[in-house]
Amino acid sequence: MSTLWNHRYAQRTQRMTSSVIRELLKLTALPDVISFAGGLPGPDLFPVEEVKEATESVLETKGRVALQYSTTEGYAPLRDMICRHMARYGIVVDIDNILITSGSQQALDLIGKILVNPGDKLLVESPTYLGAIQAFTMYGAEYATVPTDDDGMVTDRLEDALRCGPKFIYALPNFQNPSGVTMPLERREALIRASDHYGIPIIEDDPYGQLRYEGEHIKPLVVLDAECLDCGHNGKYTGNVIYLSTFSKTLAPGLRMAWVAAPKEVINKLVQAKQGTDLQCSTFDQMVAFEVGHGGFIDRHVQRIRQVYGHRRNVMLAALEKAFPDRSLGVKWTRPLGGLFLWATMPDWLDTAELLKEAVNEKVAFVPGFAFYPCGGGHNTVRLNFSNARDEQIEEGIARLGRVVMRQIESHKSAAKA
Ligand SMILES: Cc1ncc(COP(=O)(O)O)c(C=O)c1O
Repeated sequence: MSTLWNHRYAQRTQRMTSSVIRELLKLTALPDVISFAGGLPGPDLFPVEEVKEATESVLETKGRVALQYSTTEGYAPLRDMICRHMARYGIVVDIDNILITSGSQQALDLIGKILVNPGDKLLVESPTYLGAIQAFTMYGAEYATVPTDDDGMVTDRLEDALRCGPKFIYALPNFQNPSGVTMPLERREALIRASDHYGIPIIEDDPYGQLRYEGEHIKPLVVLDAECLDCGHNGKYTGNVIYLSTFSKTLAPGLRMAWVAAPKEVINKLVQAKQGTDLQCSTFDQMVAFEVGHGGFIDRHVQRIRQVYGHRRNVMLAALEKAFPDRSLGVKWTRPLGGLFLWATMPDWLDTAELLKEAVNEKVAFVPGFAFYPCGGGHNTVRLNFSNARDEQIEEGIARLGRVVMRQIESHKSAAKA
């Protein structure tokens, strides 16, 4: 039945589809399903007491400021704290280079709003973060992809991909969502050289950088860019990279508190765009995040998160080793050095969207990888989250999934023989 609304929606809504992942999460949210589908941090690690104390303290000491409107750029002490925090990772920027956003998801949307014209090509990794595709597609983006392997974006293939003249490159160098892989320094340097040579800016999305479980921290793209262009002096960053990070994984995603670090002129544009969206992030929430975060709490808390998630990653790897068919049967998986996700590849003929239906019958769930390929592909891949389940759930869930995969492989073999 045609409704009053049908012909009133803006053209840009025509490419809007509800996230495949969110639809799937509905399927997998049944009480006895062990779900590796979401990208959820472990709620057992949320700093509930600290947030409670900070809330009381903010209301008692600065209640009338906290409940008032404030600047779009964000609460200055919080931006200052973020600058000091980033400096320890080599990112030297000034408070004027920082905008507070409602999650990195809003930053992606604002970037789409200020940079993307309908039909603009964006260069993304294949696979890439689905939320970014959703945000950019709303502004009419088209995509060109660079393949990834166990070391992230395959920079040898960049030149080819850059021929499409992209508006920008969207990259996730640390513990990528969805694949969990990390770009080594040489590839990061190659990416920066290409960006500089062709004059194509980079959006560096880094929500997981602090969640490293082994190995050494690798310089972010924004740092390599500042070194390459010699533009990080006096904390005034004027380079080619827009850097995004968030407190969603180090404090709690429900706070919706994240930031953009970028050249001041870009921040000014983003500020104008944000004014039209929501004027500002909640003054109160920003003050609470500052109250919780300052004085070294985040660092101490991150140590604990690393221990717990690092352990859960190990439990999942051991469970896969035990319960999954191996490489000789065409099944392999990544060994992420950090982050929340592990990525498994099944034999070519296996469709993981179909596999999910069987898996849900066995009361275990994952995200079929095709959802993360903006230009198609990945039908035989699977994203598995390890941060949100207890050890015994991980072991039991992977055992169930291993049985489902094994059954598929056996029946494929019998069909081939018949
Ligand atoms: C790569 C990536 N970017 C951005 C986000 C959004 O994070 P936030 O909670 O800060 O909006 C996520 C969330 O999982 C993510 O994985």
